[in-house]
Amino acid sequence: MSVSFIILAAGMGSRMNSDTPKVLHHIAAAPLLHHALTAARSLEPTRIVVVTGHESAAVAKSAEAFDPSVECVLQDPQLGTAHAVDMAAPLLADSSGEAIVLYGDTPFIRPETLEAMLHARARHSVVVLGFEAKDPGRYGRLVASGENLEKIVEYKEATDEERSITLCNSGVICASAKTLFELIAQVGNSNAAAEFYLTDIVEIARAQGLSAGVVTCDESETLGVNTRAQLAEAEAAFQSRARAEALENGVTLTAPETVFFALDTHIGRDAIIGPNVIFGPAVTIESGAEIKAFCHLEGCHVSRGATVGPFARLRPGAELAEDVHVGNFVEIKNAILDEGVKVGHLTYIGDADIGEFTNIGAGTVTCNYDGVMKHRTKIGKRAFIGSDTMLVAPVSIGNDALTASGSVITENVPDEALAVGRSKQVNKPGLATKLMARLKAIKAAKGKS
Ligand code: UD1
Ligand code: CA
Repeated sequence: MSVSFIILAAGMGSRMNSDTPKVLHHIAAAPLLHHALTAARSLEPTRIVVVTGHESAAVAKSAEAFDPSVECVLQDPQLGTAHAVDMAAPLLADSSGEAIVLYGDTPFIRPETLEAMLHARARHSVVVLGFEAKDPGRYGRLVASGENLEKIVEYKEATDEERSITLCNSGVICASAKTLFELIAQVGNSNAAAEFYLTDIVEIARAQGLSAGVVTCDESETLGVNTRAQLAEAEAAFQSRARAEALENGVTLTAPETVFFALDTHIGRDAIIGPNVIFGPAVTIESGAEIKAFCHLEGCHVSRGATVGPFARLRPGAELAEDVHVGNFVEIKNAILDEGVKVGHLTYIGDADIGEFTNIGAGTVTCNYDGVMKHRTKIGKRAFIGSDTMLVAPVSIGNDALTASGSVITENVPDEALAVGRSKQVNKPGLATKLMARLKAIKAAKGKS
């Protein structure tokens, strides 16, 4: 069955009190919009259409960054949810498949729930996702008997009796694309808000003899973000689920409540994650790798048997092969570390390729930036970089080569060579004692005056 998605993301989200459009605020290191897009994409849809309005260029850019095949349509002005969906009509009204409407600010709808809605379409022309609300507040209410839905009443329009209903509208609606747009074309705006309510399509469908049904999900799935407080709540909800999933998948979390995951974090079985580890976007940790306490990782890949930290930072493009060891106060960016490389302490490796079994001494720095351009450092296999070596890129170090501690390496080092790039040491016999005596005398003289 082919399905397309329409994701509503035109609203301003004024209660966020922000210059950033609501759907671009982050949960789990990803914009809210990407959470909705992830749920949509998991059903392998034919098309995904995002309806933009406020800050449309920024929202469209974010949608495109998620997946270039996502299409955006502009809704300006914003005249309500039915009007928003109608913006997608030129793209989808002729399609023969199903259409599902999602909200860009409702990040936690599960793919299984969307599947259940598609299944319910066998019994109903229009399927609405509802939930039992602990505090129904201002949600639209579902007037239903069993699975059969009679109508949706917006809170503003509802009678006291209708307001006492606790079965609420999540906003997610599924119908055939053809039916959806035919029904929307009949929606008017004579209501309290003078808006075109998407929710009106249920009553219109029923009046035409079409059936409407409710599928329900847990309230946690429909958690919408309208305020910063709800954003924080949603973050907490995401993290507690992600921790439980990691544990379930065979990952050791020493102190689960101190580990923060991103939407797209992948961690293999038998990996060990210590306390206070933060995962930014696009991190893969393979089975059996260990991330020790207080590490910050983003855009990186850590292979089997590798150990990282404590207190290490892996930035985008850090590729650690099997059994690599990255120790404390080490930062790695856009660098490939082949099997068995050791970078134990206090080091910056940026824009580099390091061959297998090379050892990088404490305090090594790849001087990769000249103030204008970035340059690459290439280090061969089994090399030994002495402590406090400055590698002034572009530069290459051969296989089995060695650099002396404290060297500033500005020229390529051939295979098997020892490079010494430091000034020669001079010892002055007895001078230390003389110097100290002189300094003490100066201090004593000052104390008297
Ligand atoms: C809507 C539903 C309500 C439901 C609630 C669930 C309608 C009429 N009401 O109410 O039944 O309980 O969601 O959260 O549908 N949007 C646009 N363009 C517009 C208007 C809205 O893109 O012109 C987007 C918003 O950015 C938001 C979503 O649609 O992502 C919902 O709009 P919102 O105004 O928040 O609807 P509610 O009043 O909360
Ligand atoms: Ca809302």
